[in-house]
Amino acid sequence: TTRKLLLLPGDGIGPEAMGEVSKIIAILNDEAAAGFETETGLVGGAAYDAHGAAISDADMARATAADAVLFGAVGGPKWDAVPYDLRPEAGLLRLRKEMALFANLRPAICYPALAEASSLKRELVDGLDILIVRELTGGVYFGSPKEIVDLGNGQKRGVDTQVYETYEIERIARAAFEAARTRHGKVTSMEKRNVMKTGVLWNEVVSRIGRDEYPDVRLEHMLADAGGMQLVRAPKQFDVIVTDNLFGDMLSDIAAMLTGSLGMLPSASLGAVDAATGTRKALYEPVHGSAPDIAGKGIANPIAMIASFAMMLRYSFAMTREADALEAAIAGVLEAGTRTGDIMAPGCRQVGTTEMGDAVAAA
Ligand code: NAI
Ligand code: MG
Repeated sequence: TTRKLLLLPGDGIGPEAMGEVSKIIAILNDEAAAGFETETGLVGGAAYDAHGAAISDADMARATAADAVLFGAVGGPKWDAVPYDLRPEAGLLRLRKEMALFANLRPAICYPALAEASSLKRELVDGLDILIVRELTGGVYFGSPKEIVDLGNGQKRGVDTQVYETYEIERIARAAFEAARTRHGKVTSMEKRNVMKTGVLWNEVVSRIGRDEYPDVRLEHMLADAGGMQLVRAPKQFDVIVTDNLFGDMLSDIAAMLTGSLGMLPSASLGAVDAATGTRKALYEPVHGSAPDIAGKGIANPIAMIASFAMMLRYSFAMTREADALEAAIAGVLEAGTRTGDIMAPGCRQVGTTEMGDAVAAA
């Protein structure tokens, strides 16, 4: 087999973190004949500097043709004055839109070695492993009308519209149920059916998909506000949480804070499964940004980027054994007390980006 990857390192610490993934790819190719073929493209400020757009049409075409895309981070003060449509973030938005990546998977994992550093009580988060599945291409961020209307009497009206259609809920529900099957077999669906029509429909459709297609997965429903509270009060009750774009944005940021550092958090954005080939478009990226404050210093934590590659192994290539091994390597390195600055703790050994990458690769 050959597996075609497009690497888009981007700006700031993106390229530094991406460099550490290359070590893992080399090991998989050498020792497991994984057949990864990588190409590297430009995105964000780097692409703007080279061709005046946040991603070129050529790189966009390579992204849609690749088996999977690994994305670093974009942005930085250098491009703050760039026109809105050309700003670095526009590259990521174009990728998400043209690849039709509707399912955003964000794990919140609290490695036992880091439980002390969490903002919550250790026993609440030690060993935490939940997955938030957020709908990414619909809902109130995209529904129309979306406008500010001048009412002419000194008043204005801001309008956003939440729209969800059956097929959009069906496909995100399936993504969540499929993920639960590879995990602990439980899905919690969150909406506000008490006050929103989209919530009523969401609840109805997720229930039907669960009953008809995934009777082996346990499904529960929670109002999204109560879900936010439970996420902080007793997060280990959850396995997979599936929710809409807006609630998912907030709930995944809350979940992120359960786990310690931004430098640890991976994510995946998945498109629909192509019926003919059985493949799906997918982009994997760390949750963090380009971290201009530490860029170029060799101190960024590459684990979020490496863990994003582990998600790629799991969700794009069904390389479960390799993904498990890579995640175990990360946990082992942390357990052994090897830490970058952002997750440093007393008694641990502080290392830079390349040493951390070397340690994970060795493990
Ligand atoms: P950020 O995530 O880049 O940084 C926030 C803080 O966390 C900084 O103090 C940074 O040093 C630290 N941090 C982040 N990742 C780290 C890592 N791997 N290791 C160690 N420390 C790490 O968010 P910020 O500062 O709000 O944004 C910086 C730039 O990144 C902006 O231009 C923003 O628009 C962009 N951004 C891009 C994203 C993307 O490419 N998906 C996501 C978020 C922000
Ligand atoms: Mg957010």
